[in-house]
Amino acid sequence: MRIIRTIPELRTALKARREGGNTIGFVPTMGFLHEGHASLIRQCAARCDCPVVSIFVNPTQFGPEEDFAQYPRDAERDQNLCLKLGVKILFMPEPSEVYPTGFSTFVEPGNLGNVLCGEFRPGHFRGVATVVTKLFNMVQPNLAFFGQKDFQQVAVIRRLVKDLNLPVDIIAAPTIREADGLAMSSRNTYLSPENRQRALCISRGLLKAEAAFRGGTRDAEALLAAAKTELNEMDEIHYCELVDALTLEPVSREVNRAAVLAVAAMVGRTRLIDNVLLSPSADTSHFISHLGD
Ligand code: PAJ
Repeated sequence: MRIIRTIPELRTALKARREGGNTIGFVPTMGFLHEGHASLIRQCAARCDCPVVSIFVNPTQFGPEEDFAQYPRDAERDQNLCLKLGVKILFMPEPSEVYPTGFSTFVEPGNLGNVLCGEFRPGHFRGVATVVTKLFNMVQPNLAFFGQKDFQQVAVIRRLVKDLNLPVDIIAAPTIREADGLAMSSRNTYLSPENRQRALCISRGLLKAEAAFRGGTRDAEALLAAAKTELNEMDEIHYCELVDALTLEPVSREVNRAAVLAVAAMVGRTRLIDNVLLSPSADTSHFISHLGD
């Protein structure tokens, strides 16, 4: 595995790989890797000759009051994990490499970036869309892998790939959870043991709604109610919504196309998000990765 910190070096290494006929797979991350990241990297390594991972805590996707400075980092542990998972190139640029002095061009996602998390994190998806576009231009992958945990991020990126004609296939992979149901997240490290326990009500509610859906419930109100009754341990609920999986528009009556039931809530000072995909089609795993194609 090569650890690369500059764009010219990355381009040279990848050019050789591409000319050698390798398919390039890419998993962009902000590091402090956990099993959710590992599952994306494993899929990438299984499907591509040259799995590339980036670790970059992207300043432009954090709001001024958000946790950019505190975001957890552990470069050595991340490097060891990537090596173990068969990563060929680990790209770890400095902020000045990605955003040199004078940087002023952004990718604006439009409405998909304004709803749900976008309402509470203005500018977040603009930062994500910008850095992902830049990383795609640096790596030029054939396939890129994202987690359904951040389903709005997946929707924004699929849209931008279409809108800007980027030659990359987007693969979305299911959310990996702790044994007790909590969706894995680098931010879980912020939770005190007590808040960690309270946070479980999010996945409990979502998994209850998912079970109701599997049992035949299609009524939007009933599905939302199943999730909402569990959320009373949260300090603040930013949203609990049922939306169309592609357009992110609210599902007002019945679920008859793929929908996402999504929650964002505060536990203490930590903002957590989670969701379940409610798809009337039987094979959800296949559906996830081809959503929108
Ligand atoms: P980060 O939060 O590090 O996540 C990197 C990738 O891992 C994302 O695609 C995310 O959806 C996925 N992921 C996180 N938790 C997961 C889980 N429990 N199960 C499955 N996948 C999970 O998302 C970002 O970084 C950034 O916004 C980035 C795309 C790198 C742009 O800066």
